[in-house]
This record gives sequence, structure tokens and C-alpha cells, in this order.
Amino acid sequence: MTATDHNKNAAVDGLSAAEVIRSMTVDDLPQVHALECAAQSSPWSREHFAEELGKAYSRTDLCWRDGQLAGFICTWLVAGELQIQNVATAPTFRRQGVAARLLAVVLERAAMTCFDAAWLEVRVSNTAAISLYERYGFQAVACRSGYYADGEDALVMCYRPQ
Ligand SMILES: CC(C)(COP(=O)(O)OP(=O)(O)OC[C@H]1O[C@@H](n2cnc3c(N)ncnc32)[C@H](O)[C@@H]1OP(=O)(O)O)[C@@H](O)C(=O)NCCC(=O)NCCS
Repeated sequence: MTATDHNKNAAVDGLSAAEVIRSMTVDDLPQVHALECAAQSSPWSREHFAEELGKAYSRTDLCWRDGQLAGFICTWLVAGELQIQNVATAPTFRRQGVAARLLAVVLERAAMTCFDAAWLEVRVSNTAAISLYERYGFQAVACRSGYYADGEDALVMCYRPQ
């Protein structure tokens, strides 16, 4: 495929020509972990990401923009349910639709498997992530008291496909 063909296909897919979304490989681990450390207060270790590569039900999708790693989303698809394990956007790429794009990709892929629901936990203080999830159809359904290691509560959110 030529670069022109690739750009044409990207346009057909609704992507900008400079955006690539693909699965994480072992070679991506250093960059993914660096992004995680820049984005999260309690980051996953590099080993944690490596372990995800070994799980048949786990997938980590990466969003690259202009050759830079802009964000990732890690999901598990188990027994017809999608569990969103981790999402992060690099600070310099925030509010540019990266997480929304990744969320759309994983929900569209899950829809092809006739999934029942998507679930996630989010810190009650994480208003940015809660706004993102609510905007894309997730609803808060429960609160887990003291869920995180530092004692913060988790909001349990659920998305049900139409
Ligand atoms: C939460 C996070 C992933 C959002 O990533 P993002 O790529 O900046 O989000 P998007 O640009 O796709 O935002 C899509 C929509 O979500 C909502 N949103 C995203 N960030 C928001 C913020 N800081 N405040 C309010 N709403 C926000 C908005 O509705 C936004 O649409 P708009 O920009 O047109 O208003 C990012 O802030 C991040 O990496 N945070 C640290 C890691 C984290 O908290 N992960 C979630 C763990 S559960």
C-alpha cells in the first residue's frame, strides 16, 4: 500500500491522515509506561503492561498522532462484558479527542461481538474522566467505598449498547 492509499483509507475511516490506532506490542512498553507515569497519580508498572500482553482477553490500543504516542486504552473482553482497565492521554494531547476516539474504537469493536455492557471504576475526584465517560453514554451505577489504596472511593460506571 502506498502512503497515498494509506491516507485515502484513513480519510474513509474518519481519521486524520496523521492518526494511527493500533494494538500495543512489547516494543511499545517504554513509551506506554512513560505516558502512564506522566498521566496518572498511581501509575501501573512497566511489568503490569507487559503482563497485559500475555492475557488473551486483554488488549491495549494506542493512539499515535504525528508519530507521537498520544494516548492508550486497556480493555478486557470477558464473557460478553467489556471492562475498561486503564485510559490515559499524554498531557500535551489533552482535550483533542484522543480518549474519546479510543473509547469509540473499543466500543465499536465490542459491538461486533454483541457485548452486554461495558464497565469501569473511576476515582470520585476524577471529574475529567467522569465527564468523558458520561459524555459517551456511561452512567454511574454504584460507589465502592475505600476502593483505592489511598482510601478514595470509586464510582462504578456502566455503558449498555442500544
Ligand atoms: C481523562 C482523560 C483520559 C481524558 O483524555 P482526553 O484525551 O483529554 O479527553 P478527550 O479530549 O477525548 O475529551 C472528550 C470529552 O471528555 C470530556 N472531558 C475530557 N477532559 C475533561 C476535563 N478535563 N474537564 C471536563 N471535561 C473533560 C469533555 O466532554 C471532552 O469533550 P470536549 O473537549 O469537546 O469538551 C485525560 O484527562 C487523562 O489522561 N487523565 C489522567 C488519567 C486518567 O484519569 N484516566 C482515567 C482513569 S479512570
